[in-house]
Parts: sequence; C-alpha cells; structure tokens
Amino acid sequence: MRERIPDLVKTADNWCSKWANKKTILATEELKRYTLDVTMNALLGMEFPLNGESLEDLYNKLHIFSTGVYSFGIDLPFTKFGRAMAARQEILDMISEGIYRFRRNPELKGCLRSLIDGRDEDGNGLTMPELLDNIVTIAYAGFESTALGMTTALLKMAQQPEVWEELKKEQERIIAKHGPEMTAEAIEDMEYTTAVYKEAVRIMPTLPGLFKVATKTFEINGYRIPKGWVVIPLTGTTAQHYDERWPGDANYCPNRYLTKAGREPVPELAFGLGPHSCIGRYLSILEAKILLATMARGFSYKIANPDQARVYAPLPFPEDGLAMIVDK
Ligand code: HEM
Repeated sequence: MRERIPDLVKTADNWCSKWANKKTILATEELKRYTLDVTMNALLGMEFPLNGESLEDLYNKLHIFSTGVYSFGIDLPFTKFGRAMAARQEILDMISEGIYRFRRNPELKGCLRSLIDGRDEDGNGLTMPELLDNIVTIAYAGFESTALGMTTALLKMAQQPEVWEELKKEQERIIAKHGPEMTAEAIEDMEYTTAVYKEAVRIMPTLPGLFKVATKTFEINGYRIPKGWVVIPLTGTTAQHYDERWPGDANYCPNRYLTKAGREPVPELAFGLGPHSCIGRYLSILEAKILLATMARGFSYKIANPDQARVYAPLPFPEDGLAMIVDK
C-alpha cells in the first residue's frame, strides 16, 4: 500500500476537483465512487474500461448486488436476489478481463500482481475462481464501508465546525513540517485526521454485528452456546457502547484518541477481531485520511441538511444522500 500512496493521492485530488467543478453533489454516492476507484485503480491497478465497461458501470452493478444480496435468497430473474446474482456474474466477467490483461502484460503494476503471482509455502498460487472471489470481496467490502465512515465524518464536521477547523490546522502543521507532498511519513504523522475518521467509524459502525458459527461449545456470562449454533457478536454496537475507556459515550469527539487512553493500542472492534478481522482496515484508514487531508488542504464544503435521519440502504447512510456544495 505504501507503494500505491502516490496513486491514492492523485485519485483523491481528482475526485475533490471533480466535485468542486460540479459544485453540488450527493456525497454518499460520490464517496462510494471514490472508494471504488481507489480499490480498483489505485490499489489493484486495474484500468478501465474492462470488458467494454467503465468504472461507473461497475459502480452500478455493485449497487444492484449490494441492495439485493441480503434479500430473500430466491435466484430468479425478477427477484432482487436474482438481479444481485446476475450483477455479480457481470462483475466477474469484467474482473476476469482485468486478470487476463495482467497475465498477458507483465509490465502492469498494482496489488493485483501480488494476488496473481503470490505462492503459498507449497508453491501453489490462487486459482481463477479464487482470484475472482477475492477481488469481488475486496471491491464489495471496501466500497460502502469506508464511504459510510467518511460520510459520517463530513456530516459530523458540519455539525461541529471546530473539528473541521482543527483538521485544517493539522494539515497546515503537516505541510510546514513535511512539505506539500503527501508522503507516507506525512500521512503517518496525521494523528488528528486519523482520529476524525476513527471516531466516525466508532459512532456509526459499518457492521453492527457479524454472523459466526460456534466451532465448539463454550460458555459466556453463564450462558452455554452449543457447537454449531449461529452466533452474532455485536462488534459495532459493542465498540460504541461498551468500550471501557468511554462506556456508552456516543458523542462525536475525535480528541478522545489524543488522550493517553485513546492512544493505547487496543483492538478496534468496529473492524472485527480474530483471524477474519478486517483485512482492509489499513486501506480504509489510509484512503479516508488522504481524502480528508485533500479536502482540508484545498477545498471547503457545506452540507444542505446537517441534521437528518439515516436510512438503511443497506448501511445507515444519511436520508438525502448527503447533499453537499463543494468549493475550491
Ligand atoms: C469503515 C471501514 C470498514 C469496516 C468498519 C470494516 C469492518 C469489517 C469487519 C467487522 C470485518 C470482520 C467480519 C467478520 O469477522 O466476519 C471485516 C472483514 C473484511 N473486510 Fe472490512 N471493513 C471496512 C473496510 C474494508 C475495506 C476498505 C476493505 C477492502 C478493500 C475491507 C475488506 C474486508 C475483507 C476482505 C474482510 C474479510 C476478511 C476475512 O474474512 O478474512 N474492509 N471488515
């Protein structure tokens, strides 16, 4: 990811400029486009069009997939689930073309190269179905989750302008210390910017709970959970309500991460725990930091309706799509 930082910075700059040119945007949708562009282009190194389709086509197909995949699982052409499965197949066709292109041209660079060339201790690489499955998972898992975190951060900063002011001040300090280029070291140094994003994910967790199956019988708080039972640990809710450093505190306050307790290296439950915890955690924080830093350095924004409800679609995004005016 370190190697991909210049591409991530360029991607953030392109999107912010595009938004400033448009002036009025629906931030929820635009941030999803940004995260998808980061994952597919800047991170994996896939270039569009793929199979004759653009990044916007992929965005639309992922949207159909995302809204239908949790619906009742009847796979027929006219059901939501059926449309989600058809969209998934079209996504696989696009990604297959990207993989073939990498295989044909060894000069192409990006994390896709590591996925294609990687070998385990027995010398085995990923098969084509495994490659496809990994890439769809990465694209889907990273697409709405990080967009939700950034949406929350922008909304909260509109409600609490002192946070936005502090973010801008930190960027001035970073530029004075590291120069204008957003290098890995400069990004590493953005402690407040990190806190702005982490706090947004804490108060509005992407995944309220996870689906797990007990692999052995165990006991928790006096309750016996038999092997084979479905268990839904409410990691997101727990992260918000039961963190013993600030129990039940749902207020948005990035400064909490700048205290002694906040700097402790405790696991962040919002990203899960254990062997299947979020593989994209660092990417998520990195791409959000780069976008927030880019905004704070050269742009201003105004949210039309800072006090609004959330709708589950399927994640809890602001009701009006976060209508926003962006200026350079
Ligand atoms: C705010 C952003 C994000 C949050 C809150 C989040 C949260 C989570 C959580 C809680 C899990 C654990 C699921 C489980 O234990 O069953 C998970 C897994 C995963 N996440 Fe994320 N995620 C985020 C961003 C991303 C990004 C940007 C990517 C990739 C581009 C990503 C890729 C994945 C993948 C592939 C897994 C499955 C890992 C495995 O099963 O081994 N996530 N994520």
